[in-house]
Amino acid sequence: MIISVMNYKGGVGKTSISWNLGCFYNLSFRENDPYGSLDLLSGTNTTLNYSNIENNCIYDFAGFTDELTYKVLEKSDVVIVPTLNSLLDVKNTINTINYAKKYCKNIIFVINRYKNGSDITELVDFIKKHTGINQYVVINDSKGVLNAINSKKSIFALSEEKNLNKHTYKSILECFNKLIRKVEECLKN
Ligand SMILES: Nc1ncnc2c1ncn2[C@@H]1O[C@H](COP(=O)(O)OP(=O)(O)OP(=O)(O)O)[C@@H](O)[C@H]1O
Ligand SMILES: [Mg+2]
Repeated sequence: MIISVMNYKGGVGKTSISWNLGCFYNLSFRENDPYGSLDLLSGTNTTLNYSNIENNCIYDFAGFTDELTYKVLEKSDVVIVPTLNSLLDVKNTINTINYAKKYCKNIIFVINRYKNGSDITELVDFIKKHTGINQYVVINDSKGVLNAINSKKSIFALSEEKNLNKHTYKSILECFNKLIRKVEECLKN
């Protein structure tokens, strides 16, 4: 399985999502970001080498796509595009989705860091209208994401640790489970 996670540089959640999905599926990690941190988290060399595009791998593309990025995208089973819940972020997100869909038919966008009560209908409709992509998942804003990163564990592993954690991480875990279900749907296509 190859999963790509991409959007512009600047904290939309690419690395957090890559980390959690990569751990869930037991994938290797690759990143094209000199400031990336998946090497630190995974304790492995995560340098992306376009002449050796590995299978069973998650690719975290941080903003700077280049003329070879498509080589990974066209081999990807799914491309995940996280965005924040703001119309300010949406132009870049639309450009990213429209670029990715040239090479991969399975695109999921993620409205990340969702805060209860905020209205995302307009944002979602806008993205759908300008990309034709309908598959999306909402991921809540949750301390659990940071806790997972800081403990070098996935949200799945963290929530399994103690009974208390199960309760604490219930809603963020459900968000990631929804993302997993969407990925699984894409794998069937
Ligand atoms: N759902 C979430 N809830 C709370 N915090 C989050 C969530 N997703 C990401 N964050 C936090 O936002 C920050 C940026 O996330 P992350 O590093 O995953 O983004 P990125 O897209 O990889 O950024 P960059 O473009 O700099 O590589 C991190 O501190 C992370 O813990
Ligand atoms: Mg990152």
